[in-house]
Amino acid sequence: MAYIALMKNYPNVRRFLKEYPPKKLSIYFWGILCLIVTIVIHSSIPLITGRLISALEDQAFPLNTATKDELSHVATYLLLAAVGLIIFRTLSRVLIFIPGRQIESEVRESMYQSLLQLPPSSQWTSGDLISTGTNDVTSVRVMISMGVLHVINTFGMICFCLYHMLNLSVRLSLYSLIPLILVVPLTKVISNKMMATGRKNQKLLGNLTEVIREHFRAHALMAVFPVYNSIIKRVDKANTDYANTAEKFMTLRVFIMFMVSLVTGIGIYILLRYGLIKNDLIDQTAGIATVVSFMLYLWVIQGPLRAAGFLLPLLQRGEISLERLYKVQDAAKEAQVIEEARLIHSREEFDKRSQDSEPFIEIKDLHFAYNKKHDNEFKFELNIDSLVIEKGKKYGFFGSTGSGKTTLINIISGMLDVEKNKLSLQGIDRCDIQQKVLTELFSQVSQECRHFGKTIRENIEMVETNSPEKGQRLGFEDALAVSCLSPDLDKLSQGIDTLLGEHGINLSGGQKQRLSILRSLVRKAELVIMDDFISAVDHATEVKIIERLYESTKDKTLLLISHRISALKNCDKIFLLEAGKIIDSGTHEELLKSNTSYASVSEYQEKSDVLAQIEEAQS
Ligand SMILES: Nc1ncnc2c1ncn2[C@@H]1O[C@H](COP(=O)(O)OP(=O)(O)O)[C@@H](O)[C@H]1O
Ligand SMILES: [Mg+2]
Repeated sequence: MAYIALMKNYPNVRRFLKEYPPKKLSIYFWGILCLIVTIVIHSSIPLITGRLISALEDQAFPLNTATKDELSHVATYLLLAAVGLIIFRTLSRVLIFIPGRQIESEVRESMYQSLLQLPPSSQWTSGDLISTGTNDVTSVRVMISMGVLHVINTFGMICFCLYHMLNLSVRLSLYSLIPLILVVPLTKVISNKMMATGRKNQKLLGNLTEVIREHFRAHALMAVFPVYNSIIKRVDKANTDYANTAEKFMTLRVFIMFMVSLVTGIGIYILLRYGLIKNDLIDQTAGIATVVSFMLYLWVIQGPLRAAGFLLPLLQRGEISLERLYKVQDAAKEAQVIEEARLIHSREEFDKRSQDSEPFIEIKDLHFAYNKKHDNEFKFELNIDSLVIEKGKKYGFFGSTGSGKTTLINIISGMLDVEKNKLSLQGIDRCDIQQKVLTELFSQVSQECRHFGKTIRENIEMVETNSPEKGQRLGFEDALAVSCLSPDLDKLSQGIDTLLGEHGINLSGGQKQRLSILRSLVRKAELVIMDDFISAVDHATEVKIIERLYESTKDKTLLLISHRISALKNCDKIFLLEAGKIIDSGTHEELLKSNTSYASVSEYQEKSDVLAQIEEAQS
C-alpha cells in the first residue's frame, strides 16, 4: 500500500507507462512470469522448513518410516526449489534486462530527435543536454530493468510472505508487523527528501558536465593565460557540490535500510518476547514449527523491505530523469507544433504565395531583446524602424563590436525568434514560414564558423542541396575558387579528405572561414549571409575573395557583415549600426560624404591596406 501511495509521487513514470506502446512493454511478460515463479518458490521455503521441524517434533530416534518419507519429500522439494530458483531467477533477470536495453535505445533515439528539433534559442546548456542524453537515459534504463525487477520482487515477496504469515498466525502477524506500519510515514518523509536531493543532484551533474565541457573547449586558453587555478577551482566547486548532494542522497538511502532492519528486528523481538516467552500470542495449537517458520518469514521479508532503500533511489532517479527528458521532448514538440502551424511548409508553397512585387525582406518596427539569463547581464536592445532588402542586391552591415550586426542577421535567418508582423519575406510574415523553408532559401556563414569533426569533403557534402532548381548553385570548382581554399587543400596530406578535429580545430581561423564560405556557396540559396567572414584572412586573399564573391553571386542577394570597409564598399547599400540602431545608410560614396566617422575609418583602413600591400610585396 505504501508503495502504491508512493507511486502517486511519480507522475513521469506514470506518463511513461501510459505513453509507451503497451505492445513493447508486453515483452516484459515472460520475465515477470519467471519472477513470480521465483517469488512463489522463495516464499515457500520457510514453510517447508517448518514442515521439516514439524516432522521431527516429538520424534524419537531412530525415525519411523512415515517421518523418513516426510523428510525425503521435504528434501526433494528443497532440491527442486533450489534448481527452480536458479533457473527462474536467471531467466527473470535476462528477460527483464534485455527489454530494458531495447527501451533504453529507443529513449535515447527519441531524445536525440528531440535535440535536433529544439529551437536554436533553447534554454539548456550543452552540458545539461549531454547529461540528459547520457546519464538520464541510463537512469531510465536502470529504472525500467532493475526497478521493475525490484518492484515486483518486493511486492511479490511481501504479499506471499504476508499470506503465509497470516495463515500461520493472524495475531502474531499483526503484532510483529505493527512496527512496520509505523515506519511508513517516516519512509514517506525521507523519500520526499531523497526526491528533492536527487533532483538537485542530477541538475548539479548537468552543471558539472557543462563546466568540464566549457573548460575543455577553452583548453587552448590555458597555454596562453594563467587560468589553470581558476579552472580547477570552478571544476572543484562543481564537483564538490555534486559530491555533497550525492553523499546526502546516499545517507538517506542507508537510513531507510537501517530503519527497515531495525523494525524487522523489533518484530522478531516481539515474536520471541511475547510469542514464545510469555506464550501469549501463539495459538495453543501452534507448535515450534510455526514459530520457526514465522521467524524465517520475518527474516525473508527483510530482504525485499531493505531493497526499498535501494529501490527508492532507482525509482526516484528514473522519475527525475524522465522529468528532465520529457522537458526536452516537450519543448521540442512545442517548437514542432509552432512550426507545423505555420502556413508555409515548403519551398513550393513559398514560391506560390510569395509576391514578387513585395520586397525580398522587409523589417518594420522591430524591437528585440535577449532573454536575460543572469541578473547582471547587461541589456542590449535592437530597434530597427525600417529595413528593406531587395532581391539580387548586395548589402553591407558595418558597425562597432556589439552594435547588433550579428543579432540582426540572426533574426533575418531565423536563428532568433521574432514577433508577428515585424519581418516579412516577399509579403509573407516570417512567423508564417517554417524554419526549414528559410534554411532552404538562405545560406549563412556564421561568425563562429562551426564545422563537424569529419573530413572537409563531408563537411561540404553533408549540407543538403535538395531544393528545386530555384536558387543558383555554384559548381564546386567555382565555389572553391571564391573561397581561395585550393592552395590550403593542396598542402594537406589527405587534401579534401583530411579529417578535421573537433569543431574543425586543426584548421586555422582563416581556413575555417574560407571553408564556411565554400560550404555556403555550394548551396542552392536565394540569399547568402556572411557574418564577419574574412576577419581572419590575410589582405591579399581577402581582396581575391571579395572580387570573386561579387562576380560569382551576381544574381544572388548578399548580406555582408564586416569590419573591413573594402569588403563592403561595392555593396548597393551599406547600413551603419550603433547601439542596436541603424544610424545611417547609403552607398559607400554617399556614406563617405554623409558620415564623418565612416569616412575616417575608411581612410584609416585604406592607409593600412596600402601598408599591408607594401609589406606583402616585400616579403
Ligand atoms: N545570446 C545572447 N544573449 C544575450 N546577449 C547577447 C547574446 N548575443 C549577443 N548579445 C549581446 O548583444 C549585443 C550585440 O551583439 P552582436 O549582435 O553579436 O553584435 P555585433 O555582431 O555587432 O558585434 C552585445 O552587446 C552582446 O552582449
Ligand atoms: Mg558579430
